[in-house]
Amino acid sequence: MHDADQRQGFNTRAIHLGYDPQSHQGALVPPVYQTTTYAFPTVEQGAACFAGQADGYFYSRISNPTLALLEARMASLEGGEAGLALASGMGAITATLWTLLRPGDEVIVGHTLYGCTFAFLHHGIGEFGVTVRHVDLNDTLAVQAAISPRTRLFYFETPANPTMQLIDIQALVRIARMHDVLVVVDNTYCTPYLQRPLELGADLVVHSATKYLSGHGDLSAGLVVGRKALVDRVRLQGLKDMTGAVLSAADAALLMRGLKTLTLRMDRHCSNAQAVAQFLQVQPLVDVIHYPGLPSFAQYTLAQRQMRLPGGMLAFELKGGLAVGRRFMNALQLFTRAVSLGDAESLAQHPASMTHSSYTPEERAAHGISEGLVRLSVGLEDIEDLIADLKQALAVCA
Ligand SMILES: Cc1ncc(COP(=O)(O)O)c(C=O)c1O
Repeated sequence: MHDADQRQGFNTRAIHLGYDPQSHQGALVPPVYQTTTYAFPTVEQGAACFAGQADGYFYSRISNPTLALLEARMASLEGGEAGLALASGMGAITATLWTLLRPGDEVIVGHTLYGCTFAFLHHGIGEFGVTVRHVDLNDTLAVQAAISPRTRLFYFETPANPTMQLIDIQALVRIARMHDVLVVVDNTYCTPYLQRPLELGADLVVHSATKYLSGHGDLSAGLVVGRKALVDRVRLQGLKDMTGAVLSAADAALLMRGLKTLTLRMDRHCSNAQAVAQFLQVQPLVDVIHYPGLPSFAQYTLAQRQMRLPGGMLAFELKGGLAVGRRFMNALQLFTRAVSLGDAESLAQHPASMTHSSYTPEERAAHGISEGLVRLSVGLEDIEDLIADLKQALAVCA
Protein backbone atom coordinates (compact mmCIF):
# COMPACT_ATOMS: atom_id res chain seq x y z
CA MET A 1 0.00 0.00 0.00
CA HIS A 2 2.75 2.50 0.97
CA ASP A 3 5.42 0.81 -1.13
CA ALA A 4 7.46 3.64 -2.68
CA ASP A 5 9.07 3.39 -6.09
CA GLN A 6 12.08 5.01 -7.73
CA ARG A 7 9.99 7.95 -9.03
CA GLN A 8 9.19 9.09 -5.52
CA GLY A 9 11.32 11.53 -3.59
CA PHE A 10 14.44 10.73 -1.57
CA ASN A 11 12.70 10.99 1.82
CA THR A 12 9.69 8.94 0.74
CA ARG A 13 11.98 6.17 -0.47
CA ALA A 14 14.15 6.35 2.68
CA ILE A 15 11.00 5.74 4.74
CA HIS A 16 8.81 3.43 2.63
CA LEU A 17 10.70 1.70 -0.18
CA GLY A 18 10.30 -2.05 -0.41
CA TYR A 19 7.83 -2.46 2.44
CA ASP A 20 4.05 -2.89 2.54
CA PRO A 21 2.58 -3.19 6.08
CA GLN A 22 -0.38 -5.14 4.70
CA SER A 23 1.98 -8.00 3.87
CA HIS A 24 3.21 -8.06 7.49
CA GLN A 25 0.10 -8.14 9.74
CA GLY A 26 -0.17 -4.35 9.34
CA ALA A 27 3.07 -3.74 11.26
CA LEU A 28 4.12 -0.12 10.60
CA VAL A 29 7.81 -0.91 11.15
CA PRO A 30 9.29 -3.87 9.27
CA PRO A 31 9.69 -6.96 11.50
CA VAL A 32 13.26 -8.01 12.24
CA TYR A 33 14.15 -11.45 10.88
CA GLN A 34 16.23 -12.59 13.84
CA THR A 35 17.21 -15.92 12.27
CA THR A 36 20.38 -17.48 10.97
CA THR A 37 18.89 -20.19 8.80
CA TYR A 38 15.78 -20.93 6.69
CA ALA A 39 13.65 -24.05 6.27
CA PHE A 40 13.72 -25.66 2.82
CA PRO A 41 10.40 -27.20 1.69
CA THR A 42 12.41 -30.00 0.03
CA VAL A 43 16.04 -31.07 -0.35
CA GLU A 44 15.78 -30.29 -4.06
CA GLN A 45 14.66 -26.70 -3.31
CA GLY A 46 17.58 -26.27 -0.89
CA ALA A 47 20.04 -27.54 -3.49
CA ALA A 48 18.57 -25.15 -6.10
CA CYS A 49 19.05 -22.20 -3.69
CA PHE A 50 22.68 -23.17 -3.10
CA ALA A 51 23.26 -23.56 -6.83
CA GLY A 52 21.84 -20.09 -7.48
CA GLN A 53 19.04 -21.63 -9.59
CA ALA A 54 16.21 -20.61 -7.24
CA ASP A 55 15.52 -17.47 -5.26
CA GLY A 56 15.24 -17.72 -1.52
CA TYR A 57 17.14 -17.24 1.70
CA PHE A 58 19.30 -20.06 2.98
CA TYR A 59 21.82 -18.68 5.51
CA SER A 60 22.02 -15.20 7.04
CA ARG A 61 25.74 -14.70 6.36
CA ILE A 62 24.73 -14.54 2.69
CA SER A 63 21.37 -12.78 2.90
CA ASN A 64 18.51 -12.05 5.29
CA PRO A 65 15.14 -10.35 4.61
CA THR A 66 15.84 -7.46 7.04
CA LEU A 67 19.20 -6.79 5.40
CA ALA A 68 17.61 -7.14 1.94
CA LEU A 69 15.19 -4.31 2.71
CA LEU A 70 18.03 -2.07 3.90
CA GLU A 71 20.06 -2.98 0.80
CA ALA A 72 17.14 -2.13 -1.53
CA ARG A 73 16.63 1.24 0.17
CA MET A 74 20.32 2.17 0.02
CA ALA A 75 20.57 1.06 -3.62
CA SER A 76 17.63 3.31 -4.44
CA LEU A 77 19.02 6.30 -2.51
CA GLU A 78 22.46 5.99 -4.13
CA GLY A 79 20.94 5.42 -7.59
CA GLY A 80 22.48 1.94 -7.91
CA GLU A 81 21.13 -1.42 -9.04
CA ALA A 82 21.95 -3.35 -5.87
CA GLY A 83 23.23 -2.96 -2.34
CA LEU A 84 25.05 -5.11 0.19
CA ALA A 85 25.08 -4.59 3.96
CA LEU A 86 28.12 -5.52 6.06
CA ALA A 87 29.24 -5.39 9.68
CA SER A 88 31.33 -2.20 9.41
CA GLY A 89 32.75 0.28 6.95
CA MET A 90 36.03 -1.67 7.01
CA GLY A 91 33.99 -4.83 6.34
CA ALA A 92 32.56 -3.16 3.22
CA ILE A 93 35.92 -1.81 2.04
CA THR A 94 37.92 -4.98 2.62
CA ALA A 95 35.23 -7.30 1.17
CA THR A 96 35.14 -5.09 -1.96
CA LEU A 97 38.88 -4.89 -2.46
CA TRP A 98 39.54 -8.58 -1.68
CA THR A 99 36.93 -9.39 -4.35
CA LEU A 100 38.15 -7.05 -7.07
CA LEU A 101 41.94 -7.34 -6.72
CA ARG A 102 44.32 -10.24 -7.30
CA PRO A 103 48.11 -10.67 -6.81
CA GLY A 104 49.93 -8.69 -9.51
CA ASP A 105 47.14 -6.11 -9.81
CA GLU A 106 47.66 -2.41 -9.19
CA VAL A 107 45.28 -0.01 -7.45
CA ILE A 108 45.52 3.79 -7.74
CA VAL A 109 44.28 5.58 -4.64
CA GLY A 110 43.87 9.16 -3.43
CA HIS A 111 46.63 10.82 -1.43
CA THR A 112 44.75 10.79 1.86
CA LEU A 113 42.53 8.02 3.18
CA TYR A 114 40.99 7.01 6.51
CA GLY A 115 43.76 5.44 8.64
CA CYS A 116 42.47 1.84 8.64
CA THR A 117 41.84 1.93 4.87
CA PHE A 118 45.44 3.09 4.45
CA ALA A 119 46.59 0.29 6.79
CA PHE A 120 44.55 -2.34 4.92
CA LEU A 121 46.04 -1.26 1.59
CA HIS A 122 49.64 -1.18 2.79
CA HIS A 123 49.74 -3.83 5.51
CA GLY A 124 46.80 -5.99 4.41
CA ILE A 125 46.18 -6.54 0.70
CA GLY A 126 49.47 -4.81 -0.17
CA GLU A 127 51.31 -7.74 1.44
CA PHE A 128 49.46 -10.18 -0.82
CA GLY A 129 50.97 -8.94 -4.08
CA VAL A 130 48.75 -5.94 -4.86
CA THR A 131 50.64 -2.73 -5.67
CA VAL A 132 49.18 0.45 -4.17
CA ARG A 133 49.94 3.80 -5.83
CA HIS A 134 48.97 7.10 -4.18
CA VAL A 135 48.41 9.76 -6.81
CA ASP A 136 46.99 13.29 -6.86
CA LEU A 137 43.72 12.21 -8.45
CA ASN A 138 42.90 15.77 -9.54
CA ASP A 139 46.06 15.82 -11.67
CA THR A 140 44.95 14.22 -14.95
CA LEU A 141 48.48 13.83 -16.29
CA ALA A 142 49.72 12.22 -13.06
CA VAL A 143 46.80 9.77 -13.13
CA GLN A 144 47.42 8.88 -16.79
CA ALA A 145 51.10 8.37 -16.05
CA ALA A 146 50.37 6.06 -13.11
CA ILE A 147 48.07 3.74 -15.10
CA SER A 148 49.56 0.46 -16.30
CA PRO A 149 48.02 -2.62 -17.94
CA ARG A 150 47.78 -4.08 -14.39
CA THR A 151 45.70 -1.18 -13.01
CA ARG A 152 42.32 -2.57 -11.95
CA LEU A 153 40.71 0.27 -10.01
CA PHE A 154 40.74 3.80 -8.63
CA TYR A 155 39.77 4.11 -4.96
CA PHE A 156 39.25 7.37 -3.07
CA GLU A 157 37.30 9.38 -0.50
CA THR A 158 35.79 12.76 -1.36
CA PRO A 159 36.01 14.73 0.86
CA ALA A 160 39.06 12.89 2.14
CA ASN A 161 39.33 12.07 5.83
CA PRO A 162 40.78 14.19 7.45
CA THR A 163 42.17 16.79 5.00
CA MET A 164 38.79 17.53 3.31
CA GLN A 165 40.43 17.43 -0.13
CA LEU A 166 37.86 16.77 -2.89
CA ILE A 167 38.25 14.60 -5.97
CA ASP A 168 36.45 15.48 -9.20
CA ILE A 169 34.53 12.20 -9.67
CA GLN A 170 33.38 12.86 -13.26
CA ALA A 171 36.87 13.80 -14.45
CA LEU A 172 38.32 10.62 -12.96
CA VAL A 173 35.53 8.45 -14.38
CA ARG A 174 36.38 9.76 -17.88
CA ILE A 175 39.98 8.54 -17.51
CA ALA A 176 38.86 5.23 -15.97
CA ARG A 177 36.54 4.50 -18.93
CA MET A 178 39.40 4.97 -21.42
CA HIS A 179 41.50 2.37 -19.58
CA ASP A 180 38.82 -0.10 -18.48
CA VAL A 181 39.50 0.67 -14.82
CA LEU A 182 36.81 0.48 -12.08
CA VAL A 183 36.03 3.49 -9.88
CA VAL A 184 35.20 2.87 -6.19
CA VAL A 185 34.25 5.86 -4.02
CA ASP A 186 34.00 6.01 -0.21
CA ASN A 187 30.93 8.24 0.22
CA THR A 188 30.90 8.14 4.05
CA TYR A 189 31.36 11.89 4.60
CA CYS A 190 28.52 12.85 2.26
CA THR A 191 25.86 10.11 2.25
CA PRO A 192 23.74 9.88 -0.92
CA TYR A 193 21.81 12.96 0.19
CA LEU A 194 24.83 15.21 -0.44
CA GLN A 195 26.64 13.34 -3.23
CA ARG A 196 25.81 10.45 -5.56
CA PRO A 197 29.00 9.10 -7.18
CA LEU A 198 27.16 6.38 -9.15
CA GLU A 199 25.18 9.04 -11.01
CA LEU A 200 28.53 10.61 -11.95
CA GLY A 201 29.73 7.31 -13.43
CA ALA A 202 31.45 5.53 -10.52
CA ASP A 203 31.10 1.72 -10.45
CA LEU A 204 30.75 1.14 -6.70
CA VAL A 205 30.14 3.24 -3.61
CA VAL A 206 31.25 2.06 -0.16
CA HIS A 207 30.11 3.48 3.17
CA SER A 208 30.84 3.39 6.83
CA ALA A 209 27.17 3.38 7.83
CA THR A 210 28.44 3.64 11.41
CA LYS A 211 28.45 7.39 10.73
CA TYR A 212 25.72 9.64 9.26
CA LEU A 213 23.57 6.88 7.76
CA SER A 214 22.78 5.35 11.14
CA GLY A 215 23.48 8.69 12.80
CA HIS A 216 23.28 7.93 16.51
CA GLY A 217 26.64 6.39 17.42
CA ASP A 218 25.08 3.13 18.55
CA LEU A 219 25.99 0.61 15.83
CA SER A 220 28.72 -0.39 13.37
CA ALA A 221 27.73 -1.09 9.77
CA GLY A 222 28.98 -0.86 6.20
CA LEU A 223 27.39 -0.78 2.76
CA VAL A 224 28.39 -1.40 -0.84
CA VAL A 225 26.16 -0.14 -3.69
CA GLY A 226 26.50 -0.36 -7.46
CA ARG A 227 25.92 -2.58 -10.48
CA LYS A 228 24.27 -5.86 -9.51
CA ALA A 229 26.91 -8.05 -11.14
CA LEU A 230 29.67 -6.39 -9.11
CA VAL A 231 27.69 -6.30 -5.84
CA ASP A 232 26.81 -10.00 -6.28
CA ARG A 233 30.51 -10.80 -6.62
CA VAL A 234 31.31 -8.89 -3.41
CA ARG A 235 28.50 -10.75 -1.63
CA LEU A 236 29.55 -14.22 -2.77
CA GLN A 237 33.33 -13.78 -2.47
CA GLY A 238 34.22 -10.83 -0.23
CA LEU A 239 31.40 -11.31 2.28
CA LYS A 240 30.53 -15.02 2.14
CA ASP A 241 33.99 -16.55 1.71
CA MET A 242 36.67 -13.98 2.51
CA THR A 243 35.60 -11.78 5.44
CA GLY A 244 32.30 -13.14 6.81
CA ALA A 245 31.65 -9.53 7.89
CA VAL A 246 27.87 -9.85 8.00
CA LEU A 247 25.64 -7.20 9.63
CA SER A 248 23.20 -8.34 12.33
CA ALA A 249 19.48 -8.05 11.53
CA ALA A 250 18.93 -5.97 14.69
CA ASP A 251 21.55 -3.42 13.59
CA ALA A 252 20.09 -3.37 10.06
CA ALA A 253 16.73 -2.41 11.59
CA LEU A 254 18.34 0.38 13.65
CA LEU A 255 20.15 1.59 10.57
CA MET A 256 16.85 1.80 8.66
CA ARG A 257 15.50 3.89 11.52
CA GLY A 258 18.45 6.24 11.04
CA LEU A 259 17.78 6.50 7.29
CA LYS A 260 14.27 7.85 7.92
CA THR A 261 15.70 11.09 9.37
CA LEU A 262 18.85 11.29 7.24
CA THR A 263 18.01 14.46 5.32
CA LEU A 264 16.71 16.31 8.40
CA ARG A 265 19.90 15.49 10.26
CA MET A 266 22.21 16.27 7.33
CA ASP A 267 20.61 19.68 6.76
CA ARG A 268 21.26 20.52 10.41
CA HIS A 269 24.82 19.06 10.41
CA CYS A 270 25.59 21.21 7.36
CA SER A 271 24.11 24.46 8.67
CA ASN A 272 25.85 24.01 12.04
CA ALA A 273 29.19 23.17 10.35
CA GLN A 274 28.88 26.19 8.06
CA ALA A 275 28.36 28.46 11.09
CA VAL A 276 31.26 26.85 12.98
CA ALA A 277 33.55 27.25 9.93
CA GLN A 278 32.57 30.91 9.50
CA PHE A 279 33.23 31.51 13.20
CA LEU A 280 36.62 29.76 13.17
CA GLN A 281 37.93 31.37 10.01
CA VAL A 282 37.95 34.87 11.56
CA GLN A 283 39.58 33.81 14.86
CA PRO A 284 43.14 35.21 15.17
CA LEU A 285 44.37 31.90 16.62
CA VAL A 286 43.18 29.84 13.60
CA ASP A 287 45.94 29.35 11.05
CA VAL A 288 44.16 27.35 8.31
CA ILE A 289 40.68 25.92 7.98
CA HIS A 290 39.39 23.33 5.51
CA TYR A 291 35.63 23.39 4.90
CA PRO A 292 34.04 23.06 1.43
CA GLY A 293 31.37 25.65 2.28
CA LEU A 294 33.86 28.53 2.66
CA PRO A 295 34.60 30.58 -0.48
CA SER A 296 38.25 30.51 0.67
CA PHE A 297 38.30 26.69 0.33
CA ALA A 298 40.64 25.82 -2.56
CA GLN A 299 38.03 23.57 -4.25
CA TYR A 300 34.96 25.65 -3.48
CA THR A 301 33.72 25.55 -7.11
CA LEU A 302 34.04 21.76 -7.29
CA ALA A 303 32.22 21.46 -3.96
CA GLN A 304 29.34 23.54 -5.31
CA ARG A 305 29.11 21.37 -8.43
CA GLN A 306 29.56 17.96 -6.83
CA MET A 307 27.95 18.22 -3.38
CA ARG A 308 24.41 19.33 -2.58
CA LEU A 309 25.70 20.90 0.68
CA PRO A 310 29.25 21.11 2.14
CA GLY A 311 28.74 18.51 4.90
CA GLY A 312 29.19 18.35 8.65
CA MET A 313 32.96 17.72 8.82
CA LEU A 314 35.78 20.24 8.98
CA ALA A 315 39.47 20.37 9.86
CA PHE A 316 41.66 23.24 11.01
CA GLU A 317 45.01 24.13 12.48
CA LEU A 318 45.77 26.55 15.24
CA LYS A 319 48.78 28.87 15.31
CA GLY A 320 51.28 27.10 17.55
CA GLY A 321 50.54 23.69 15.96
CA LEU A 322 50.16 20.51 17.97
CA ALA A 323 50.81 21.96 21.46
CA VAL A 324 48.12 24.60 21.11
CA GLY A 325 45.78 22.15 19.35
CA ARG A 326 46.07 19.80 22.35
CA ARG A 327 45.36 22.61 24.80
CA PHE A 328 42.33 23.63 22.73
CA MET A 329 40.88 20.09 22.57
CA ASN A 330 41.42 19.51 26.30
CA ALA A 331 39.54 22.74 27.04
CA LEU A 332 36.41 21.73 25.09
CA GLN A 333 33.40 21.12 27.31
CA LEU A 334 30.47 20.49 24.92
CA PHE A 335 32.37 18.97 21.96
CA THR A 336 33.28 15.43 23.04
CA ARG A 337 36.88 14.30 22.56
CA ALA A 338 36.18 11.14 20.51
CA VAL A 339 36.84 9.54 17.13
CA SER A 340 34.07 8.55 14.69
CA LEU A 341 31.76 11.11 13.11
CA GLY A 342 28.22 11.81 11.98
CA ASP A 343 26.62 11.50 15.39
CA ALA A 344 24.13 13.89 17.04
CA GLU A 345 26.92 14.80 19.49
CA SER A 346 29.67 17.12 18.23
CA LEU A 347 33.04 15.36 18.32
CA ALA A 348 36.65 16.61 18.24
CA GLN A 349 39.67 14.45 17.56
CA HIS A 350 43.36 14.65 16.65
CA PRO A 351 43.98 12.62 13.45
CA ALA A 352 47.78 12.31 13.86
CA SER A 353 47.51 10.51 17.21
CA MET A 354 44.11 8.88 16.70
CA THR A 355 42.33 7.99 13.43
CA HIS A 356 45.47 8.38 11.29
CA SER A 357 48.06 6.99 13.73
CA SER A 358 48.43 3.97 11.40
CA TYR A 359 50.45 6.30 9.13
CA THR A 360 54.07 6.89 10.17
CA PRO A 361 54.95 10.58 10.78
CA GLU A 362 56.76 10.56 7.41
CA GLU A 363 53.70 9.07 5.69
CA ARG A 364 51.43 11.68 7.28
CA ALA A 365 53.74 14.43 6.03
CA ALA A 366 53.74 12.91 2.54
CA HIS A 367 49.94 12.61 2.52
CA GLY A 368 49.16 16.12 3.75
CA ILE A 369 48.05 15.24 7.32
CA SER A 370 49.77 17.83 9.50
CA GLU A 371 50.57 16.97 13.12
CA GLY A 372 48.54 19.92 14.45
CA LEU A 373 45.35 19.23 12.47
CA VAL A 374 42.14 19.16 14.55
CA ARG A 375 39.06 17.40 13.09
CA LEU A 376 35.53 18.33 14.08
CA SER A 377 32.35 16.38 13.42
CA VAL A 378 29.74 19.06 13.97
CA GLY A 379 26.63 17.62 15.59
CA LEU A 380 23.03 18.64 16.00
CA GLU A 381 23.20 20.76 19.16
CA ASP A 382 22.15 24.43 19.26
CA ILE A 383 24.69 26.44 17.29
CA GLU A 384 24.96 29.14 19.99
CA ASP A 385 26.14 26.51 22.49
CA LEU A 386 28.67 25.04 20.05
CA ILE A 387 30.14 28.48 19.27
CA ALA A 388 30.27 29.34 22.98
CA ASP A 389 32.26 26.15 23.64
CA LEU A 390 34.72 26.88 20.83
CA LYS A 391 35.08 30.47 22.07
CA GLN A 392 35.92 29.48 25.64
CA ALA A 393 38.38 26.79 24.45
CA LEU A 394 40.14 29.32 22.19
CA ALA A 395 40.28 31.78 25.11
CA VAL A 396 42.14 29.17 27.19
CA CYS A 397 44.77 28.97 24.39
CA ALA A 398 45.18 32.73 23.83
C1 LIG B 1 35.84 7.72 5.50
C2 LIG B 1 35.76 6.45 6.29
N1 LIG B 1 35.65 5.28 5.65
C3 LIG B 1 35.58 4.12 6.32
C4 LIG B 1 35.63 4.07 7.70
C5 LIG B 1 35.58 2.75 8.41
O1 LIG B 1 34.31 2.54 8.93
P1 LIG B 1 33.99 1.59 10.21
O2 LIG B 1 34.58 2.27 11.40
O3 LIG B 1 32.51 1.52 10.21
O4 LIG B 1 34.64 0.28 9.95
C6 LIG B 1 35.74 5.27 8.41
C7 LIG B 1 35.77 5.24 9.89
O5 LIG B 1 36.00 6.23 10.53
C8 LIG B 1 35.80 6.49 7.70
O6 LIG B 1 35.92 7.67 8.32
